[in-house]
Amino acid sequence: MARRIPDTLRIRWPAGSPTPPAETDAALDRAAGLLREGGLVAIPTETVYGLAANALDEEAVDGIFRAKRRPARNPLIVHVADAAMARSLAASWPEAAERIAASLWPGPVTVVVPKGPRVPGIVTAGGETVALRCPDHPLTRRLIERAGVPLAAPSANRSEQVSPTTAHHVLESLGDKVDLILDAGPCDHGIESTVIDCTVAPPRILRPGPLAREQLESAAGGPVAWPEHEPAGDGPPVARSPGSGRRHYAPATPLELPDDPPARVAELLAAGKRVGWLVSAAVVEPELAGHRELVAVPMPVDPAGYARLLYATLHALDQRQLDRIIVDPPPADEAWRAVQDRLTRAAAG
Ligand code: TXA
Ligand code: MG
Repeated sequence: MARRIPDTLRIRWPAGSPTPPAETDAALDRAAGLLREGGLVAIPTETVYGLAANALDEEAVDGIFRAKRRPARNPLIVHVADAAMARSLAASWPEAAERIAASLWPGPVTVVVPKGPRVPGIVTAGGETVALRCPDHPLTRRLIERAGVPLAAPSANRSEQVSPTTAHHVLESLGDKVDLILDAGPCDHGIESTVIDCTVAPPRILRPGPLAREQLESAAGGPVAWPEHEPAGDGPPVARSPGSGRRHYAPATPLELPDDPPARVAELLAAGKRVGWLVSAAVVEPELAGHRELVAVPMPVDPAGYARLLYATLHALDQRQLDRIIVDPPPADEAWRAVQDRLTRAAAG
């Protein structure tokens, strides 16, 4: 399929309206047609934008890997319209997956379950498990229903770069690689879904995400294993979720999480560097505030608000030809686990 600057179509579904407006419906029809023909469509979800293809079409899925320059060993998440579609892609449906799907779908949680025969091996990187998620975005679920097939969709960015939280981010990073971009405005959560392995007991978090541990445990009906309970380094859980390699989600500008951010910022400025600074403190030191070579961005003090703006902030700073991005380390609490995870990876050079 020829790839030029893709069309970006705005889609919306005003609250209280029983069906989406006619233009949105037409855009969904066009996207569904492209997907059925093996095309690549960037889709909104409640977490980040995804780069979607028909999950049952090997060649189309191969297009995702090529567009992202994603290593073939990193499996994709398959997006479904509902739990019934999810079960049709699984060889068996573990109790934990059933419970999580029943209480948290549609939502920002991906379950890893034994792979059924309909799912091509390219989707799962040759593995025996498949990652499934039902996104909490009514237009995207409608698109999946209309396409009539599950959609393989990683985040719509080049491999290892920061995930897109707006249609514009997709255009910047993969604009020449997709057939169509559906623009539903900025994503609600702003970071990727929680990935939970339901093939083991207790179920194990492979990637922390927007949902709190209590939500996952109460859904699963028992304890879940968290990454920090695992030995550090490249142990088994990392190997099980190949995408959780250490460097991931990184902006093009080198990023640091120093122990003493004001001192580090002062040092870089004194060396003539241009610095971006994600500030969590209430005030910026007066001797630094207003410095010509400093772009200081105050960040939200709650983890959900911080997550929502994190990638958009990194994308914006990447446009400013800075030498370094300094980030105030987030609080050590568990509520900040997903943000800590993304920042630590972004800082791993
Ligand atoms: O919020 C999200 O999950 C977004 C939106 C678009 O849905 N998608 C996303 O996809 O973040 P991606 O490909 O960027 O990240 C998928 C993660 C990777 O870390 C991958 O290794 C892991 O899920 N994964 C996929 N299939 C897996 C499997 N069978 N077993 C273990 N990990 C798996
Ligand atoms: Mg990704």
